[in-house]
Amino acid sequence: MKKILKNIGRLFELKTADLLGIIDRFHQHMAAGLRGEKSSLKMLPAYVGLPSGTEKGRYLVCDMGGTNVRVMSVELSGNRRARVESAMRCPIPLPLRRGEKEALFSFLARVIGDFTSAWPRIPTPFAFTFSYPMEQKSINSGILIRWTKGFNVRGVEGKEVGMLISQSLKGARLSHIHLRALINDTVATLLYASYQNPAYDMAVILGTGTNACYPERKVNFQSTGRETIINLEWGNFSELPANDYDKLLDVNTPNPGEQRMEKMVSGMYLGELVRLVLLETQGSKGHPKLNKPYGLTARQLVRLEAEEIKAIAHPIVVRSARILAAAITAVITWMDSDLKNIHHVAVDGSLFTGYPGYRKIVEATVEELLPRQGDKLIISPVKSASGIGAAVACAMSDFAAKSF
Ligand code: GLC
Repeated sequence: MKKILKNIGRLFELKTADLLGIIDRFHQHMAAGLRGEKSSLKMLPAYVGLPSGTEKGRYLVCDMGGTNVRVMSVELSGNRRARVESAMRCPIPLPLRRGEKEALFSFLARVIGDFTSAWPRIPTPFAFTFSYPMEQKSINSGILIRWTKGFNVRGVEGKEVGMLISQSLKGARLSHIHLRALINDTVATLLYASYQNPAYDMAVILGTGTNACYPERKVNFQSTGRETIINLEWGNFSELPANDYDKLLDVNTPNPGEQRMEKMVSGMYLGELVRLVLLETQGSKGHPKLNKPYGLTARQLVRLEAEEIKAIAHPIVVRSARILAAAITAVITWMDSDLKNIHHVAVDGSLFTGYPGYRKIVEATVEELLPRQGDKLIISPVKSASGIGAAVACAMSDFAAKSF
């Protein structure tokens, strides 16, 4: 057992020097992505900047994540406070995740319809949080580039998602609901965090998938006319050393060769990596779950009892946290290379707070990468900001519409 553990430890180890190299490569990919050159970081403009905190109004939100869809009605106070008036959550059935476009979008419209008929006085300005890479040309339109997180719904890649959701609402006799904002979950998270506290200038999602965003101040996007938040799509970062388990996991996904960082870091894949390692080192004896792909979830990892299994999972989880720390450090030092300011980073993800020790490893790694300056980065957990943040985007689009 000792030998196995040593070997696994070595396979998943990332030393300080490796992480510093990764940060350099990250910066190169960010620069190339922003110039529109070939890069594993898509650096997608979101066509929205940071809020002022005075945004106000009532909005309807549909938040489609990797596992659930949540519909809610949100009230923004106009003075940095928000309230979820009512909400409903529904898991996305597995067949819909790999089925036809019509089935998925009519399901979404049905869930929204059920919600609006269950509650009185539902507002009609509408925001859709769509947590997949989109090429946007405005705050309420976007073309799906590629599905991620195991989704593979036919007929949506290359299509305008804003139009698809609006058409399905029309088909469900909900044409009074108007799409004002189409937004990635990272961007929504940053909007809500900075609506409450303007010190936030980065948001990270560490859930089923992983991704981040920040306001880009160096590059002026002509087409946006002002500062915009950039969705990095960092799950696709390609310059991390992959071992045989990473490669085995990757070839059996619907998107081999893509989302390589996500497949080493996020909740959806972490349990699977542990399963693959356990299966090879221990066999499946006594653990029927180990025979089933994706049979071990990140949530179950947290509750592992057997010491041996925990010991095998540990280096895999530590690698995830160290990669996350390096990626956060890369983005912050891109914005502020001398760390002149303090930066607040909002992290939404159950792994960050739920996995014992995860947050500590991230913080210790940041300290290791930025000796004596680690305290310039304040990384705090936020919960379910991707819904309320979409309402903030809606209010900002109202403002934009009124002022131009
Ligand atoms: C995946 C998606 C990305 C999303 C992230 C977190 O990486 O491609 O758009 O933000 O998951 O949900």
